[in-house]
Order: sequence, then structure tokens, then C-alpha cells
Amino acid sequence: METVANQQPREFKLVPWTKEDALAYRREPLLAKHRLHELELFSDDALLDLLEHYPRERLQAFTMGTDPLDRSDWQPVDTTGASGKDLMAAVTSGRLWFNVLQVHLVDRRYRDLVDRVYGELSEQCPDFRPHPMSCTLIISSPRALVYYHADAQPNLLWQLRGTKRVWVYPAGDRSLIDQSLMEDIFASFADEEVPYRTEFDDKAKSFEMHPGEVLSWPQNAPHRVTNVEGVNISLSIVHETEETDRRKLVYCANRLFGRNYHLPMRSTKETGVVSYLKRLAYRVWRRAGLVYTPPRRVYLSKFRIDPQSPGGFRPIPDGPVLTEFSKKDFKLRKDSSGKISVENISAA
Ligand SMILES: [Fe+2]
Repeated sequence: METVANQQPREFKLVPWTKEDALAYRREPLLAKHRLHELELFSDDALLDLLEHYPRERLQAFTMGTDPLDRSDWQPVDTTGASGKDLMAAVTSGRLWFNVLQVHLVDRRYRDLVDRVYGELSEQCPDFRPHPMSCTLIISSPRALVYYHADAQPNLLWQLRGTKRVWVYPAGDRSLIDQSLMEDIFASFADEEVPYRTEFDDKAKSFEMHPGEVLSWPQNAPHRVTNVEGVNISLSIVHETEETDRRKLVYCANRLFGRNYHLPMRSTKETGVVSYLKRLAYRVWRRAGLVYTPPRRVYLSKFRIDPQSPGGFRPIPDGPVLTEFSKKDFKLRKDSSGKISVENISAA
């Protein structure tokens, strides 16, 4: 199979950043240039082919409302029976958001792309030693939105098609996101949802992103997205570094020892003896099996993809059903009275 790495001559840079870009990266929100959208990998045919054959247990589909304050409208949608063409037609005319998860594990060309992109970034950015973790291809409707949230790990958002507006809020501002909630996000007890108020926008920087632009922000900076025009195709690539891993350990240690053992641990210092001992203790606890890991979230859906329906989905008459991307971890049971229960089979 032809790979991205050998599609282009060596001098073709996918990430032609300026010196200023490289210096600003990780310190402040940064909108910079890239050339990933020029690759054949993201042509109509290539994307349709990817969707047609993509394992459905790694494809998340959601619908959402129009109000950034009402996240209850964010609902999973089942993809059973939907072809690649159906998915593309539904996202084009409807109000949907597809996360094509771990695409670097499924398709070798994406793995090569991630390696090459991070290779170029490491060459340009001083002291940047990333371990790429996960690559998600995002395909979203022309008016789709993502609610205000913060992520544990840093990522880079690469715009390939369409236009979107992204609001980025300062990292580490406790009035924007509570420290305990950030601990929950690091320890996987919260799914990145963070309470949002419109006045937060006074502190935000907003960016309109076009194909050929990549946006990054300091680790944990809250953000939200509204698509502006056209079907949006983006890549979100998550990575870790020694520094980001250290921060994760600090927050997880604070959560564990503060809540389970009532030790007064609030400092988020990532250097010094106390921080070191705290991180060490957390690792020891984890190795000893004393750190509880929450189970995965189950996604039940009352909707199924339907390109003929206005939102790109229709109600399931005898729903809810377990979505395709929850089937490997859960089983749904209905008793004779119609009562539904969910069994976690990944924990068995
Ligand atoms: Fe995010």
C-alpha cells in the first residue's frame, strides 16, 4: 500500500511553521499553516472508501442542538446498516458529528502521516519530544458544534475541509474550570464536560479555521467549536510528553490522596521534591492495584443514521439500542416487561 511518507519528495514539508510559530507553540493558542489537506488521503474518494470499510466499533456518531449552553442535545446515533455513502450524505445534509477513532491503528497511511507530522514538529520546536497517542478523523456537518470542554492531554486540530470557529479559553483559570473537575478529567471520571457560561467568552480568543490551518492551545485550555461552512473534515491528534505526563500524575495524585485519604493535596506544582514524592506515591499505588479505574461509558441511542431525514438520523421505534461503538464493551438485555439493563462485558 502506498503510504504518505513516500507520496511526497523529502523537501515537501507538511508543517511549514515559522520560527515564531514554533516558539509560541504550547505557550499560547496558535493558528499556523499546514499542507495535509493537499494529500490524496483526504480526497472525496479516499474518505468515502475509508468510511465504507471502517470498523463501526471505532466510529462514533453524535447529533447536537444549536445552543452551546444546552449539552443535553448531544446524543449518540447508531450507525447500523449505514454505508459509507449513507454516512457522508447524512453528515452533509444533517446535523451530525463523526469521530473516526484511532484511524492510525486501522489505516497504515494515517500512522505514517502522524509519524511524519510529529517528526517535522519535533525538528522545528525546541525541546518538543512527543509520543503520538491517538489520531481521530473528524467529519462534521456544516452547522455542527462541540460544547465547551477541556481535555486532559494536549492535541493539535488540523483543518482539512470546511470552515469552523473555535473559542479557546485560558488554561489554568479556576473560574473557567474547577480544579476538582480537572482532576476528574485527568482520572477519567468525567468525560471532559465542563459547566459553561456565556460570560466566559470575554476571556476567550476565537479563531476561524480554514483548510490548511492547524490550531493548538496550551494543555487543558477549555475550548468549544461551531462549524461555519461546508462539511468539516479535521484531524485531531493527541500526544503526550514527559511534561504532560507529569501534570497528569500530579492531578491524579491530588485526587486520589485528597479524596480517598483526606490528605490536603491541592498544589499543582510539577517540579520540586514534594511534587516528585506525590507522583511517585501515586505510581506505587497504581502498580499495587489501589487506584480505581472507572468503567467505560455506555452509549445507548434512540436514533439511527438516515440520510433522507432532515437531521441525518431518525428515531428507532423499539429503541434505545446499543450503538455499534459500545457493542464490544456492553450487552443490552430486555426483560419480559420491556425493562432494559446493561451488562459490562469488558470487565468480565
Ligand atoms: Fe477537545
